Amino acid sequence: MNAAGWLAKGVAHLEERRVPEAKANAEFMMAEVLGTGRGTMLTRGSQELSEKQSFQFWSWIKERGKRVPLAYLLGHQPFLGLKIEVTRDSLIPRPETEELTLECERLVKSLNVPAPKILEIGTGTGCVAIALAQLLPDGTVFATDVSDKALALALKNAIAHHVGNRIRFVREDLFSDKQGLRGWADLVVSNPPYIPTKDLDELEPEVQCEPRLALDGGKDGLEAIRAIVKAAPKLLKPGGFLALEIEARQGPSVSKLLSAAGFSGVNIKKDAQGRDRFVYGSVGKLVK
Ligand SMILES: C[S@@+](CC[C@H](N)C(=O)[O-])C[C@H]1O[C@@H](n2cnc3c(N)ncnc32)[C@H](O)[C@@H]1O
Repeated sequence: MNAAGWLAKGVAHLEERRVPEAKANAEFMMAEVLGTGRGTMLTRGSQELSEKQSFQFWSWIKERGKRVPLAYLLGHQPFLGLKIEVTRDSLIPRPETEELTLECERLVKSLNVPAPKILEIGTGTGCVAIALAQLLPDGTVFATDVSDKALALALKNAIAHHVGNRIRFVREDLFSDKQGLRGWADLVVSNPPYIPTKDLDELEPEVQCEPRLALDGGKDGLEAIRAIVKAAPKLLKPGGFLALEIEARQGPSVSKLLSAAGFSGVNIKKDAQGRDRFVYGSVGKLVK
């Protein structure tokens, strides 16, 4: 069967199983199988697939029909124009986190400091750390996670994007006291686990394939955020920023946490969909 035939069969299979964006998903898989972009793929409908290609395409279609995320099947996800490798050990980078990253670039540039220092807590695939290292070429990034597998993946991604020498990936629990980094950072950024434990089972099947460690924010969803807000003032230089991604309903509670911890200029920012998704603020003085 040719590519167009397999594609139509794949779309029908996904539609039957009510997979969101069935057509686009099948097109991305076919483009990957043909080793081309999605646009070019559409012009190659008459191409016969080899046995290997059709086997690969149909295996992915069946897995996607069981709601395995497309990025886990293809093994990569775009992030601010970078091709980020993903595995089931890491969260799949999201478009809103691209917005968080661009906001961080803006905040750091507003400080106007030479050689800015950035600390990312919970780096996952390393997407935020890598994009920031590229956007801020004279910056240094320190990125942490508790998952060894995620850290190994993040390092691999950083090397692939030529910033492996500017990011230090360290296994570090966000609840521990980072003594060596006191007063070090111009920016602390995190997209922490922020989903309340009780909501995890209600999430879309795709999200349920992702590591719980990356999602579970404890009873009220704010456990990791509280720990970061408590730790960040000690890690930041005077004037430095803490920037967090949050769940849409958490804006007021997270901004209260920042204010109570002594942050000033606390701001809730909306994402492109108009939902409260980011909170940031700056510290006034060096905290010992
Ligand atoms: C929501 S994911 C974010 C991943 C990546 N930064 C992104 O935006 O795509 C949260 C990350 O925090 C990590 N994490 C969970 N608990 C942690 C802890 N106690 N200390 C450090 N990192 C933690 C998870 O392993 C996961 O990689």
